[in-house]
Amino acid sequence: MIFVGADHAGFELKESIKKYLTTSEISFEDFGAHKLNEKDDYPDFAKLVCEKIQKESDRGILICGTGQGMTIAANKFKGIRASLCWNEETVTVAAKHNDANVLCLPGRLISKELGVKLVKLWLNFEFSGEVRHNRRIEKIRGFEA
Ligand code: RB5
Repeated sequence: MIFVGADHAGFELKESIKKYLTTSEISFEDFGAHKLNEKDDYPDFAKLVCEKIQKESDRGILICGTGQGMTIAANKFKGIRASLCWNEETVTVAAKHNDANVLCLPGRLISKELGVKLVKLWLNFEFSGEVRHNRRIEKIRGFEA
C-alpha cells in the first residue's frame, strides 16, 4: 500500500502518479490535497501520510513544489526516511542505500513523465541490505532515541 500526499504545487504530479498506480494495479490511498487550493500547506499532508506509515509500516510519496518542504517535514517523524529525488541516480541510492520509505518529489521542477518514472523505479528497487548501509541506518535510528 502506498500513501500519497501533495500540496497545491505537487497536486498535478500527484494526479499523474495516481493514474500510473491505478493502471498498474498498485494499491494506494490519497491523503490530499483532494482539490487544487493555492492556500494549502505542505506540512498538513506530510503529517497525514507519515502518521499513517508509522501505523501501517508502509511507504509514501510526498510532493510539493521543490520537494524540500515535504522532505524536511517528513523526516521529523520517527521511523521515516524521506528522500528527495529528481533523477535516476538519486532514486536508486534512496532505495538501495537509504532504504527510503518516503519518496519526495519536486512537482514544479520535473516533468510528470519523469515523476512517474521515478515512482516506478523506486517501487521496483529494493534495499540492498548491505552491512554498511544497515549500519548507517542504525546510526540514524540512534538519533531518534
Ligand atoms: C508552495 O508554494 C511551496 O513553497 C511548496 O510547495 C514547497 O516547494 C516547499 O518546500
